[in-house]
Amino acid sequence: MFPKGGHLIVVSNRLPVTINKDAAGEYHFKMSSGGLVSALSGFKRALNFTWIGWPGFFIPLKDRPLVDKRLMEEYSCQAVYLDDDVADRHYNGFSNSILWPLFHYHPGEMNFDEENWLAYRQANLRFAEVVRKQMTPGAMVWVQDYHLMLLPMLLRGLLDGKDAGGETTQRELANIIEGVEGDDSMSASPPETIPGVKIGFFLHTPFPSSEIYRILPVRREILLGILYCDLIGFHTYDYARHFLSSCTRILGLPTMPNGVEFEGRLAHVGTFPIGIEPNSFIENLQREPVKTRIRQFESRFSGVKVIVGVDRLDYIKGWIGKVVLVQLAVPSRQDVEEYQNLRSTVNELVGRINGRFGTVEFMPIHFMHKSLAFDELCALYAVSDVCLVSSTRDGMNLVSYEYIACQQARQGVMILSEFAGAAQELERVADAIHEAVTMEAPTRAENHRKLFKYVNKYSAAFWGSSFIKEMGRIELGEGDSEQA
Ligand code: G6P
Repeated sequence: MFPKGGHLIVVSNRLPVTINKDAAGEYHFKMSSGGLVSALSGFKRALNFTWIGWPGFFIPLKDRPLVDKRLMEEYSCQAVYLDDDVADRHYNGFSNSILWPLFHYHPGEMNFDEENWLAYRQANLRFAEVVRKQMTPGAMVWVQDYHLMLLPMLLRGLLDGKDAGGETTQRELANIIEGVEGDDSMSASPPETIPGVKIGFFLHTPFPSSEIYRILPVRREILLGILYCDLIGFHTYDYARHFLSSCTRILGLPTMPNGVEFEGRLAHVGTFPIGIEPNSFIENLQREPVKTRIRQFESRFSGVKVIVGVDRLDYIKGWIGKVVLVQLAVPSRQDVEEYQNLRSTVNELVGRINGRFGTVEFMPIHFMHKSLAFDELCALYAVSDVCLVSSTRDGMNLVSYEYIACQQARQGVMILSEFAGAAQELERVADAIHEAVTMEAPTRAENHRKLFKYVNKYSAAFWGSSFIKEMGRIELGEGDSEQA
């Protein structure tokens, strides 16, 4: 799958390891959960790679050698350390207050700020320096998601030098680096060429229509940032198509269904729908503690139909005005104002509904604002008759896959609605809930059989391997193949 001797480097904003320091100054490491991290971890079990990312909080200089050693030896991870202010502005400020709302069609929630844009460039440059040190001849670097959209361009700059590429490259690189204080890595020693390196990028959110995308003040820079890739991947064909039309309309570049012509080469574009690691759920359901928990839930909810909803607490998840019985809302991005406002609104709404319809024996909404342990989550999925996913926009919702993986015994019904949060759709959601809870067993069994087959086949490992295989097939540019 790889060029001879090459190795795979995956770069994501967050590392898959949560690091804590206790009162005695002792560090503790634990694998984290979450959509992107679980999918990549599933893929990592199929194909080992070096994983580069931000550790999630500030680690003092003196502690870094120890943290680095444990991360590399136990998890094959490499940390990118960022100052608190840069990390905050990069993650909360630019990534989650500008790109995230815009890409999910919420331009009203978008707050553009020059300081945050500077921090985004600083953080991407810092990532580039760390990734550069891990690169070996023939390596494949696979960059993940909207936090790192300038990274492919910066890596090419570090590989080929400021003189590489045409005029656009030189000008854009200079613009990106300008004003990023303390980062002289691009101009100091001439970059050492590493032959045969391929760069890929994958976006885990939607890519919006060009009419929405063009609202972004730095729309050119962000597009150019990823055009230096050999392969750019999206979850759906529509997102890929939106990206291609933005390249034509904003940059005036010639595009084809499979890519964009840019600086004498083709940046390939493809669709690779992500999946989960179904076996981790299926196997976990066979363990005694989970079986016990399922029996407890069944007796607790005996005689009522259970509808489960599992979402990060996020405004894209379509909360307002819907009723679910067991709703898990996983805390997310709690430093961003929009997320804080949403939390108050949801708390108030749940209180109002339970106050109005609840009795001493019966509570219509069981609402939890926390993460659940994996066993508890599996048991909850397994006992639910219906799973309701009501996002207004979602890159690729993996809760739906997890629910199907846990429903072999009950063959519950999945309600997956693209725009269910939009006001005009609410009636249809109510109809869908009614249809789901009254559906006959043979129809449920047939539906579940088809979905289960799909979830098993299109797993996280399948997704990752398809992307890497496709990168392997791409011929490198002339200069690269001569050196390789
Ligand atoms: C969700 C999104 C991903 C994103 C991830 C980041 O899974 O679908 O696109 O990368 O959140 O999570 P974080 O907790 O780091 O904000």
